[in-house]
Amino acid sequence: MWASVEEFNDAKNRLSTLKKDPGNEVKLKIYALFKQATQGPCNTPKPGMLDFVNKAKWDAWKSVGSLSQDEARQKYVDLIASLVSVDAPAPPTAPSAGGTASFETLLVTTEDKVTTIRLNRPDKKNAITVQMYNEIVEALGQAANDDSVITVMTGSGDFYCSGNDLNNFTNIPAGGIEKMAKDSGELLKGFVKSFIDFPKPLIAVVNGPAVGISVTLLGLYDVVYATDRATFHTPFSHLGQTPEGCSSYTFPKIMGSAKASEMLMFNKKLTAHEACELGLVTEVFPDGSFQQEVWNRIKSYGKLPKNSLAFSKQLLRAVEKEKLHHVNEQECERLVERWLSDECMNAIMSFFQGKSKL
Ligand code: COA
Repeated sequence: MWASVEEFNDAKNRLSTLKKDPGNEVKLKIYALFKQATQGPCNTPKPGMLDFVNKAKWDAWKSVGSLSQDEARQKYVDLIASLVSVDAPAPPTAPSAGGTASFETLLVTTEDKVTTIRLNRPDKKNAITVQMYNEIVEALGQAANDDSVITVMTGSGDFYCSGNDLNNFTNIPAGGIEKMAKDSGELLKGFVKSFIDFPKPLIAVVNGPAVGISVTLLGLYDVVYATDRATFHTPFSHLGQTPEGCSSYTFPKIMGSAKASEMLMFNKKLTAHEACELGLVTEVFPDGSFQQEVWNRIKSYGKLPKNSLAFSKQLLRAVEKEKLHHVNEQECERLVERWLSDECMNAIMSFFQGKSKL
């Protein structure tokens, strides 16, 4: 599943053919992934405060953490491929076998009949911005129609996803806060709908902690694989909000109402093993072998007959599809009201004033 050394060297050569400067932030990311892929985690001494350039490079490399060299090589190849496709004069097209579609907040690749949608804002713990919501909907739409057998969602860096980007609440549009809440409700409804309606097997590869909507949506996936480093947290009442992603229906169904209430009402954070015992997670793997074991397994699923899998998934979900759409509408309606509440606004202000981390 990982990029080979030849692909890595090829990506390195393609980098010099870019016509547009990708900007400092991306260049630092390229540098960090290159160092991680070739030398492993950053163990060199931290440069002095006044050595700005080397300090920025060191910070970038350090931020990659303990990412394996294989994974870094893959990410490097994906990143260069996305830059090359943006750079090309032709407009980006749907991903094809072995291809890469370009998005700003995601890395989307199709290989061995598996389309992987990788949330790609590691510096922000893959928090989901408005743009990312839209790009995920678009990527799912493309994956539904490409020739892949399986679709996978995963995260870049040490987090799977930290949920809704709380800045979404602070960028107030010209129409005022009511318009912001109404637009966000429509966005969320369409976003969750694209998961309810997704026609092929959908697998979550939970590579680290998961918060908020990235957790609630798990009830709409067909299989959830998690590293033992992952945690599952839905701090809605902490934020003056209410559950989404159909979790008010899927969680009680999966784990029973008492355990679902503890998570969705009282902010209980689950470990990966607890989430597995409750049925939210299919299987937990030791972090050291997680990527290798999970991707080997997914690669083997990609060899199964495409239509048989898609029809099986559709049959499994058909009985409750109407119900899920109804739940989604009700959850979004309640959230529009919540986003305008003092309870919610105060919680978000506290987060940005650094008073309230989860
Ligand atoms: N929305 C906006 N920004 C977020 C975010 C979110 N959901 N999650 C993380 N970030 C940002 C942080 O503000 C920080 O930005 P900065 O580097 O510009 O200061 C960066 O991502 C890294 O996060 P940080 O808080 O430094 O990492 P951490 O490991 O100490 O903590 C979290 C990680 C996820 C526990 C913490 O960031 C958090 O509590 N986030 C809010 C999660 C949340 O409430 N989600 C909505 C659920 S409904």
